[in-house]
Amino acid sequence: MDSRDLPPSGHSQEPPEGAFDSGFRDQLDLLMRMRRDVRRFRKDPVDEAVLARCLKAIQQAPSVGLSEPWRILRIDSDAARDAALRNFEQANAAALEGYSGDQATRYAGLKLSGMREAPVQLAVFCDDETNQGHGLGAATMPEMRRYSVVCAVTLFWLSLRAEGLGLGWVSVLDPDQLARDLAVPADWQLIGYFCIGWPQELADSPELERLGWESRCAALPIETR
Ligand SMILES: Cc1cc2nc3c(=O)[nH]c(=O)nc-3n(C[C@H](O)[C@H](O)[C@H](O)COP(=O)(O)O)c2cc1C
Repeated sequence: MDSRDLPPSGHSQEPPEGAFDSGFRDQLDLLMRMRRDVRRFRKDPVDEAVLARCLKAIQQAPSVGLSEPWRILRIDSDAARDAALRNFEQANAAALEGYSGDQATRYAGLKLSGMREAPVQLAVFCDDETNQGHGLGAATMPEMRRYSVVCAVTLFWLSLRAEGLGLGWVSVLDPDQLARDLAVPADWQLIGYFCIGWPQELADSPELERLGWESRCAALPIETR
């Protein structure tokens, strides 16, 4: 092919129909690179209008069969927050017992939740038995409903980050105990407990990487069949 046959390169090229322009794509890339799991929050409150805007992202999420199986509990009362924090502390102590030597020391030094400080806390569940979507796609793989909730959380996470807010995902929990403490319906499965607020610091790399616990893979392995 002669180089004269190639489309013109660079930013002057019109994006294909339906595509966003390169400035937007750069911003989106930056947003994704600067999304972090946050465990260290300032105590300043979060404006309710901003939170509501971010929560709307959940309604844009894909879901199997359009089942929208996400169920959200806002954890505001002292009693509910205390129960969740106690749950985390017990689960974290039990997890520590699974490590030994240097790794135990490193694990003990990690901060794995911002539950003491985060001004907004949500417990997000999947309704495993919802009739919405009439079972489409979930009959063969019921776990797809839970994956749908994870998709929704990801959009929420990015939306929060775009407002300068941080989210921390807490999974070091006994889900059955939490379900009992929060009196949730039996069909709801815990997807995660989320701490939300203003981050103490911004970072472009995972905290677990900065603390030497684990590092990200340099490449994305893709196999071909
Ligand atoms: C499903 C899931 C569960 C997680 N659970 C926890 C947790 O219990 N405590 C914690 O500190 N971080 C938790 N994280 C955050 C991860 O540690 C974090 O995403 C990872 O270290 C990469 O860092 P980054 O999100 O800042 O890129 C969880 C993340 C996901 C996706």
